[in-house]
Amino acid sequence: MKQDLIVTGKMYPPTLAALDAAYTTHKLFETKDRDAMIAGVADRITAVASSNSGGIDGATMAKLPKLKTISHFGVGYDTVDMDAAKKRGIAVTNTPDVLTDDVADIAIGLLLATVRRIPQGDRYVREGKWLKGAMALTDTIQGKSLGVIGVGRIGRAIAKRAEAFNLKVSYQGPNKKSDVSWPYYPDLVALAKDVDFLVAACPGGEATRGIVSRAVIDALGPKGVFVNISRGTVADEVALLEALQQGRLGGAGLDVFVDEPRVPEGFFALENVVLQPHVGSASHQTRTAMGQLVIDNLAAHFAGKPLLTPV
Ligand code: 8YV
Repeated sequence: MKQDLIVTGKMYPPTLAALDAAYTTHKLFETKDRDAMIAGVADRITAVASSNSGGIDGATMAKLPKLKTISHFGVGYDTVDMDAAKKRGIAVTNTPDVLTDDVADIAIGLLLATVRRIPQGDRYVREGKWLKGAMALTDTIQGKSLGVIGVGRIGRAIAKRAEAFNLKVSYQGPNKKSDVSWPYYPDLVALAKDVDFLVAACPGGEATRGIVSRAVIDALGPKGVFVNISRGTVADEVALLEALQQGRLGGAGLDVFVDEPRVPEGFFALENVVLQPHVGSASHQTRTAMGQLVIDNLAAHFAGKPLLTPV
């Protein structure tokens, strides 16, 4: 007999197919009547698979009295109510490490693309504008400085790459790290004042909501560039758009937004912005590895073995 598994959010289709093969899956994200689905299986559910697009809140956990493990697809688990999980003794796993390099690559790619206007150059060639004259010169990243918000795994991987591009790195976070030598700024406005470019690599959730505030954006200034590969919620998106429209911020490279996949249309008209559809981890290899962690954590749970990547 297959075990029952609730899947709360969409995830990489091959991972979902593997879960379908191993378990009797109940896909909440495809159901109109979520309550009826939950009520019908609640006494058989000890595990849930969740994702960024469909997490799990405390009210849902409360309806699943036997729930012991949430296996989350993604390194960021801000769509899982961690306080509720902790209170109920539910273990949560995520998918760290396997996506670090891909996400850091996209961060540096966005910085280069934004400063050197790579998508604009591509359009310039396609639209035949080169035939009429050379494209306008751009700024450089050489000799500039990068502030990293959050030097966890991904922040460090970005910083390491940035150094290879001759950028001077400094960072901000809740605590000074004893194992890195980059200058630490406890205050984000102070960091933004001192750097040319700022990249958000911190977790999402309430603790970081809106920390890239109007004041931080203004401190970064008309020549500054902001890159976000973490969560849209980290920035005040309204203030960010306004600053870009008014030239109070030089540019932005954005992979994440507050209400994905809905991106405020104001961004579309801006030449100083490069937009991506949340693709930091979106390579076949990385999504496969993330999915494998989801699968392996669930297998460990059902086998009564220690979870591989508990949060
Ligand atoms: C998402 C991410 O999980 O890992 C994360 O925290 O943001 C991504 O890798 C992606 O949306 C997968 O659906």
